[in-house]
Amino acid sequence: MKALEGIKILDFTHVQSGPTCTQLLAWLGADVIKVERPGIGDITRGQLVDIPDVDSLYFTMLNSNKRSITLDTKNETGKEILIRLIKSCDVLVENFAPGALDRMGFPWERIQELNPRITYASVKGFGPGPYEDCKVYENVAQCTGGAASTTGFDDGPPLVTGAQIGDSGTGLNLAFGIVAALFQRVTSGRGQRVQAAMQDGVLNLARVKLRDQQRLAHGPLTEYPVNTDVDETPRAGNASGGGQPGWAVRTKGGGPNDYIYVIIQPPGWANYMELCGRPELVDDPEWSTPAARLPKLDKCFKIIEEWTLTKTKREAMDILNARDIPCGPILSMKEIADEPALRNTGTVVEVDHPTRGKYLTVGMPVKLSDSEAKVQSSPLLGEHTEEILLDVLGLSREEVNAAWNSGALGEPAAKTID
Ligand SMILES: CC(C)(COP(=O)(O)OP(=O)(O)OC[C@H]1O[C@@H](n2cnc3c(N)ncnc32)[C@H](O)[C@@H]1OP(=O)(O)O)[C@@H](O)C(=O)NCCC(=O)NCCS
Repeated sequence: MKALEGIKILDFTHVQSGPTCTQLLAWLGADVIKVERPGIGDITRGQLVDIPDVDSLYFTMLNSNKRSITLDTKNETGKEILIRLIKSCDVLVENFAPGALDRMGFPWERIQELNPRITYASVKGFGPGPYEDCKVYENVAQCTGGAASTTGFDDGPPLVTGAQIGDSGTGLNLAFGIVAALFQRVTSGRGQRVQAAMQDGVLNLARVKLRDQQRLAHGPLTEYPVNTDVDETPRAGNASGGGQPGWAVRTKGGGPNDYIYVIIQPPGWANYMELCGRPELVDDPEWSTPAARLPKLDKCFKIIEEWTLTKTKREAMDILNARDIPCGPILSMKEIADEPALRNTGTVVEVDHPTRGKYLTVGMPVKLSDSEAKVQSSPLLGEHTEEILLDVLGLSREEVNAAWNSGALGEPAAKTID
């Protein structure tokens, strides 16, 4: 038994934000029925292709544990099937461009009328306001949510981050909203509308920078090693956004990721200085307190770097942690892929795909003791079309054949069962 077993999700999502959400729900045991346009499917199936005629890793890494049905929802028979799916499912999730589902003939009012118990969950780029009709991709959200203006070095341009905080971050928010709506339905008996805007999701993750914006009204941000005599939260390189100073320092090796991120907590100073061969700075009032160190953090990290350059990043991690000093090596994706501990916990998983063969993907990032998330392959386009029509909707063989003939399911050549 899994946490969401018995819950049916009508999954109208595509690209990354929506699929992130429904993949999490699938890992929790929900039956996720991915509705895709006949012949085309989720556009990411054919984007960033590494092996010809095989679903891309972009797609396979976002759609595991789902079933796929091809359905033209602009075809009359397709609309009838969609109505039956809406009546049979607990949740409808979509991240179309604003208004697309309305244009299809399915605004929230109609969906609610068809099935008062359904939760209708959407990702959009922006919430209500001047930009509500705009299409949005990841980096647009990173820029409009405040993250890009605070990422990078103060003498360079704004930067986006590789972590997909706009797409995957918002998908995570949506999943949380859906689970809460399902919980409320237990007492209310009704579904509800759940909306997550990517701008809001990014800002929520960048809250410490909104904190800093307000602190600027009371003077410079002394913990940042850049000019903060400014009126907007500055870009501060690798400086920590928290209360303890940190920086990425070089380690032995000279490779692009031979760095370790080190943090100077007040009790750690003595340990650092002993390791660095500078015991005289432990009690020197010019260096011994956080306030004394603030104006010369660059010098503090230089001293630490002279020591870290004599160690590999893994050696430095072990030595510093043995002294209770928080730090983290900069791990490349190559190193992450090979990390045995991440394989053991199911955070990185090897999956077998029918046409791709074995590939690596991410697993459930939250572990539930009574609901193990076993990652399976993503579906082929329309792989479960007939199965869903017959088993979920209870259509007869004749009705399924009629649906094929109407063109609602795509080319009859795509039929999987005779
Ligand atoms: C991501 C995004 C920019 C892509 O835009 P897009 O490629 O133009 O795709 P759309 O979502 O507009 O959908 C395209 C069309 O396909 C149609 N379509 C999708 N599935 C269909 C199906 N099964 N049958 C028939 N038509 C279908 C839609 O109805 C829409 O038609 P319309 O424009 O006539 O209304 C846009 O969907 C978006 O802004 N989404 C919300 C924010 C978001 O999630 N962004 C991040 C994505 S990771």
